[in-house]
Amino acid sequence: MEFKRRNHGDHEAEPNQPTDGREGWLGLDAWTEGVQAGQEWTVEYPNTVNVQVLVGMNSGQVWAYMQQYVSPALGVGCQYCHDINNFAADTYPQKIAARSMLRLVGDLNEQHITNLPNWKGNYVQCATCHFGQPVAMEAYGQQFAGSVPPIDVVVDPLDANGQTILDPEQKPEELRTPLPLKEAMIWYVRNYDVWKPFDPTVAESGRGSLALTLDGGRTQDQVTINQNVMNYMGWSQGVGCTYCHNSRNFIDYELEASGNLAHPEYGYNKLKAQRMLLLTTWLYENWPQYGATGYDSMPVGAGTASEYSYANIGGKFYNLPACYTCHAGYTIPRGSMPSASIPEGDAGLIVMPTVLRGQ
Ligand code: HEC
Ligand code: HEC
Ligand code: HEC
Ligand code: HEC
Repeated sequence: MEFKRRNHGDHEAEPNQPTDGREGWLGLDAWTEGVQAGQEWTVEYPNTVNVQVLVGMNSGQVWAYMQQYVSPALGVGCQYCHDINNFAADTYPQKIAARSMLRLVGDLNEQHITNLPNWKGNYVQCATCHFGQPVAMEAYGQQFAGSVPPIDVVVDPLDANGQTILDPEQKPEELRTPLPLKEAMIWYVRNYDVWKPFDPTVAESGRGSLALTLDGGRTQDQVTINQNVMNYMGWSQGVGCTYCHNSRNFIDYELEASGNLAHPEYGYNKLKAQRMLLLTTWLYENWPQYGATGYDSMPVGAGTASEYSYANIGGKFYNLPACYTCHAGYTIPRGSMPSASIPEGDAGLIVMPTVLRGQ
């Protein structure tokens, strides 16, 4: 499988020369050297030496996976993570980060992907987020930055019973005073909850933090926030409202509740979007343990993503994925690993380690 590379280098890129005495990881020579060194390593050590996540695989299998799905996903040669004289050594922080990211992929597939209702068979893998670049993935994008009005809004979140919290003292600290609409939208992507779990036999079930129609109604600010989050979700996937909604009944998951599960093309999509909001919330809550670097200040300038793509978690700034990081305008992320639709003979899923599939 080939990944379309966004901007960072691949093995066709100009060679690089790190200033810390390490070997460069870009350019054709570096690529070829790394792959060959890996091959020699597997001959010398047919069984793995220091593998902690990819257990149960032999060196040849690890090598194949690294070469086909790890290096290309980040657009880097083996040297980005390895001292190619000793593939078992944990010399560089990138290898340590990558090991945590291997755990991330397994946990995501297990907890949030393979158990989706009507899962279509696509797994998250390194390329789903990285898509050819090692750092600074874009989580919101230009459209978000440009189209959201620069206004402040009052956020009135819902409590565990779906009732509006109006008293500032009862709100989470960051919502006690008005905040920019963009930040309010992002707050929902990172703090989503479901207070009335989906039940196909109950028309108004499956309701969460972004539900609007409630006793007493919702403020204009809440409607504005909701609509902009909806725009963001639709735009992230390149779809309009009717991809997820019956436009005559936005509350419902289908015209008739019982029809939900019979409409794979949109009956499920709203439900899946809700599950995805729980996924992005889970990412926010657990992100620092999965290997990403926390920066002391907001990264700016060349080689960074838009400011919205970073989250302040415990005083450090992290590049934090959201809908657009994976979807980037497509209903099924282009960088995902398909199982159901794999053509006969495609090595993809055979090479993808079973421990990362979450099944
Ligand atoms: C983004 C980081 C990254 C890149 C790039 C990368 N690897 Fe790895 N590699 C790892 C990690 C992490 C492990 C350990 C996995 C584990 O603990 O389960 C590993 C393990 C290995 C092992 C097993 C070593 C042992 O302990 O027995 C081999 C062999 C290997 N890689 C080869 C390669 C080759 C060849 C390339 C280039 C084509 C490559 N790797 C590129 C991160 C990387
Ligand atoms: C859910 C999205 C997601 C997935 C899946 C994912 N990553 Fe990451 N990864 C990130 C983000 C975001 C960062 C932080 C980037 C930044 O700091 O700008 C990151 C950082 C890294 C880094 C550290 C880069 C550096 O130079 O500091 C490595 C190495 C890495 N990932 C490897 C992997 C590997 C290997 C896989 C697959 C096993 C993987 N990632 C899967 C989102 C992801
Ligand atoms: C990717 C799927 C998706 C797209 C596209 C989408 N929505 Fe939604 N929408 C949802 C989900 C999920 C909820 C449930 C929110 C909740 O209960 O927390 C929701 C809730 C709503 C609600 C609140 C309904 C209620 O329960 O009170 C309205 C109104 C709404 N959407 C309108 C729109 C409009 C208008 C568009 C197009 C601009 C749109 N949506 C696009 C997934 C989507
Ligand atoms: C870590 C990557 C990742 C993130 C982040 C992510 N998604 Fe997804 N999403 C996927 C994958 C992979 C699938 C395909 C699963 C399958 O095969 O059924 C998917 C499927 C979907 C689907 C169903 C599409 C279909 O045709 O079946 C919807 C709707 C969706 N995502 C919405 C969202 C929304 C909204 C967000 C942000 C709140 C989001 N996703 C964030 C990876 C991601």
